[in-house]
Amino acid sequence: MRRRNLLAGLIGGTFLVTTGAACGTVDTVGKVAFTRPLLIPPLAPSHLDDQGRRVFTLHARAGHRDFGLGGLTPTWGYEGDYLGPTLRARRGERVMVNVVNNLDEPTSVHWHGMHLPARMDGGPHQTVRPGATWSPTWTVDQPATTLWYHPHPHGQTREHLNRGLAGLFVLDDDDPAQQRLPHDYGVDDIPVIVQDKSVGNGEFRDKNSGDVLLVNGTYGPYLDVVTERVRLRLLNASVSRTYAFGLADERPVALVGTDGGLLAAPATMERIRLSPGERAEIIVPVRAGERAVLRSFPPAGDGGRGFDGGKDQFDVLELRPAATLRKGPDLPDRFAPIPRLDEAAAVATRQFRLSGTNINGEKMDLDRIDAVVTKGTTEVWEVRNEDGQRHNFHVHDAQFQVLTVDGGRPPAELRGWKDTVFLPPGSEIRIILRFADYTDPNLPYMFHCHLLMHEDDGMMGQFVVVEPGQAPGRVPRGAGHDHG
Ligand code: C2O
Ligand code: CU
Ligand code: CU
Repeated sequence: MRRRNLLAGLIGGTFLVTTGAACGTVDTVGKVAFTRPLLIPPLAPSHLDDQGRRVFTLHARAGHRDFGLGGLTPTWGYEGDYLGPTLRARRGERVMVNVVNNLDEPTSVHWHGMHLPARMDGGPHQTVRPGATWSPTWTVDQPATTLWYHPHPHGQTREHLNRGLAGLFVLDDDDPAQQRLPHDYGVDDIPVIVQDKSVGNGEFRDKNSGDVLLVNGTYGPYLDVVTERVRLRLLNASVSRTYAFGLADERPVALVGTDGGLLAAPATMERIRLSPGERAEIIVPVRAGERAVLRSFPPAGDGGRGFDGGKDQFDVLELRPAATLRKGPDLPDRFAPIPRLDEAAAVATRQFRLSGTNINGEKMDLDRIDAVVTKGTTEVWEVRNEDGQRHNFHVHDAQFQVLTVDGGRPPAELRGWKDTVFLPPGSEIRIILRFADYTDPNLPYMFHCHLLMHEDDGMMGQFVVVEPGQAPGRVPRGAGHDHG
């Protein structure tokens, strides 16, 4: 039944089909009426202060939005009702973000993928009280890429994200390759923030997965395309769902960037698998006047069991190319080589066993420092999923490189900079990280599973970066609850 369903057409939305599988399989392929123009998060305004810092402001607040989901949905957002504006800064710039909490409970804002001092990181130790303002400041010092920001309050990340708090943080640099890629924001360079929602009575239910997709907060989105190639900055900002994005007609796309920057060369891909928190930049070729659909295919990597949404598929976004398209520069066949971190130089190898909602048999303790790493050193972290369920692994502060996947060479999509990796059941991934600077013996960074129900349930640990020879300190009591 690929034909558009009449009912779906009438309500302008998604018609859901449940099969006999254990928890129900979601399949919206061919059933999404693409009736709404894709919303593009506005670029956040900023100004330079007297110290030359680029200053942004994010008010977190409650609101309402009519998504077309059966009424006004209560939401949270930054500078608006749902999601937040796209922050954008250039490598070398000093930035400051005034985070104003206009909610009636504490929250925090974490800069996912950003290399910055621990006290600016926005994790569970930097919560912002209602009515308070927190103003972290740091110097952007990493390659151009697509990062994002989201709340990180202890045990409540899922709830805060699900209500709508998230946004992109796009970094720019002077790499000439960026000029050879589509880079006109909102025209041929398009943010694609994908979230699944469970909706009841017009409200977002606090569920791990849903059967309705929102893209940038748009339900049933289409995008008018005016150029021969369009760059999509894909972000999986879902609670726990893993997607495998590709074009419905199986035409390949070019993967050009992953979490922490451009790959060494574009990789031709039919599917881009993204677990929660991961990003990918892809270049999609379109043909004049021919509509194309970005789809999420059943993601591999659940051992074929079909649970955790392993058999689900979605129509995500319709691309509507104009009758005549603007040409752009040809896609380069390579970018700058990625300097490889040297395994022989590693001073430590650590193991992280993921099981249930524990890491190495333990749950997150805000007062416990799980790992002490020394500034200026390189480490190898071996992460193993010992479960029958999916996990992923995210590290704050440092973009890392993947050394091996189940003992073998990583696939193309894992050969660039990453801050989050997917771990199918039973898999092992070895990563290499360099802790270049920013020491603080007391305030930790986090590492955790980014499936938010696992994270909130304690599947997280903490590490501090210290000076050579320095002893770790103590996490300050009630750290973060005093900002104001
Ligand atoms: Cu996306 Cu610890 O965060
Ligand atoms: Cu993070
Ligand atoms: Cu997990």
